[in-house]
Order: sequence, then structure tokens, then C-alpha cells
Amino acid sequence: MRLVIAADHGGFPLKEELVPFLQRTGHQVSDLGAYHLDPADDYPDFAKLVADAVASGRADRGIVVCGSGVGACVAANKVPGVRAAICHDTYSAHQGVEHDKMNVLCLGGRVIGAEAAKEIAAAFLGARFSCEERHVRRLNKLKAIEQEALR
Ligand code: RB5
Repeated sequence: MRLVIAADHGGFPLKEELVPFLQRTGHQVSDLGAYHLDPADDYPDFAKLVADAVASGRADRGIVVCGSGVGACVAANKVPGVRAAICHDTYSAHQGVEHDKMNVLCLGGRVIGAEAAKEIAAAFLGARFSCEERHVRRLNKLKAIEQEALR
């Protein structure tokens, strides 16, 4: 899977632990930054890098890490085609893909530890959309909301 990941200063230490882990899982991982800890950087910039890559099809899935996961999630969901969610448990991380076709995982580097984050990322990356009729129907309703807002 082509995976992009990025983090602001709040998520930087966790991203630095996640990237080598994700590379070892065999996924094609692109680290979009930050590349050093800059307390003055802003999470929307990194969320947009990931969201654009996923929405354009340059990446299959994305992970954004900020301090809480909240700002990253809010920002990523501003990009049409992105379905981002904060998941700090493995059930949500795979169910969000299976039922909701979540394509961006948001994590709070100040909320969860690296080992839990690795398991959550693995659950996210290992999951596939169910394609069940009720999930497709709900996904189409999400797309309709997005299209209406874009008009
Ligand atoms: C940065 O200090 C922090 O506000 C940011 O990483 C994030 O938690 C926002 O939701």
C-alpha cells in the first residue's frame, strides 16, 4: 500500500517512531514532514499534505499526527474525498475502514504511546472496505453531503 504520513511538532516524536515501524511492515511509506521538531509549525500544513496526496490518488492511505489528533482530523476532512478520523483504539481503526472507508488515520502524539499507535496503524492498514450494500449506501450519502457543500 502507498502510505503517506506527516506530523506537526505535537506529533513529531510519535511520527519518528511510526515511520520505521511502517516501513518494516512492507508498505511504501512517504514521510511528508516535519523533518525536524519545530515548535512553531502548524498542523494544517501537514494535514493538507497528507490529505492532498490521498485525495489525488497519489497515496492509498494517510496518517497525520498532531498533539491530540483533533486538529489534524479537522484539517484533513476539509479536503474533498478525505475521510479522516481519530482512532486511539484498534477496533475503530479497522472498523472505520471496513464500514466508513476511512482513508486517513489521525493520531494524538500526546495522547497515546508508540506501541499502541503501532497496533492501531497496523489495524488501519490491514483493513479493507466491506463493500456491503449498507456501507456503500452510507458512503454514497457522505459523498452527497460533500457534493452539496461544494456547490
Ligand atoms: C500543537 O501545540 C497542538 O495544538 C496541535 O498539535 C494539535 O494538538 C491540535 O489539535
